[in-house]
Amino acid sequence: MTKLSEVARRRHTAKAYDPTRTIPQATIDELLDVLRHAPSSVNSQPWHFVVAASAEAKARIAGAAAGGNAYNAPKITDASHVIVFASRLQMTDAHMDALLAQEAADGRFPVADARTAQVNGRRKFVDLHRYALKDAQHWMEKQTYLALGTLLLAAGYSGVDATPMEGFDPVALDAELGLHARGYTSVVVVALGYHGEADVNARTPKSRLPADAVFTHL
Ligand SMILES: Cc1cc2nc3c(=O)[nH]c(=O)nc-3n(C[C@H](O)[C@H](O)[C@H](O)COP(=O)(O)O)c2cc1C
Repeated sequence: MTKLSEVARRRHTAKAYDPTRTIPQATIDELLDVLRHAPSSVNSQPWHFVVAASAEAKARIAGAAAGGNAYNAPKITDASHVIVFASRLQMTDAHMDALLAQEAADGRFPVADARTAQVNGRRKFVDLHRYALKDAQHWMEKQTYLALGTLLLAAGYSGVDATPMEGFDPVALDAELGLHARGYTSVVVVALGYHGEADVNARTPKSRLPADAVFTHL
């Protein structure tokens, strides 16, 4: 079995894709399943993922990578699939009700106390960010980035190259995809596929700070 540390070392941000190669549907299904199961604070799942596979759909997303972000456009059009990570604009009571109903349906509350504890625990954290810290949108985006990390590792494990991209115009992309009307805003775009020959990152060593700079062992 492949060690996850080997995947972490081997995976890289693809800078160019082979436009002739398509990710098998079973692999995409597996990656989306991993994505849907990403963890989030108080199981808030404040995200939505827009998946593009056709040339037309990818062109709509690539349009948001114009101006200073034009370097990202070919990655979006040449990749096999592209996923737009969107985060909620607001944590609504309706969304919390939907979470609770799902948890109940999934058998999370064998006793009534468990349901009450979940309601209270989630509301405590949500209200902290909604009303005390007033950073609910930022807090939800942090959860969405956990999903990003989850997908990047899963893609590496599956032998799929990926490019996480913040280099796009979220206002343009939100308008193109009608995300605001659905209560979301785009935060990061991920291209998925197989790198092409022009991918300099595929032949450049990975660089990370040494262990003693990033870990303190008490
Ligand atoms: C949130 C995020 C946004 C990024 N945005 C871009 C981007 O817009 N375009 C790009 O080519 N790479 C982008 N990158 C790739 C990073 O530069 C890359 O992950 C980093 O240099 C580490 O290299 P590695 O992914 O190959 O290990 C982004 C990475 C992350 C995590």
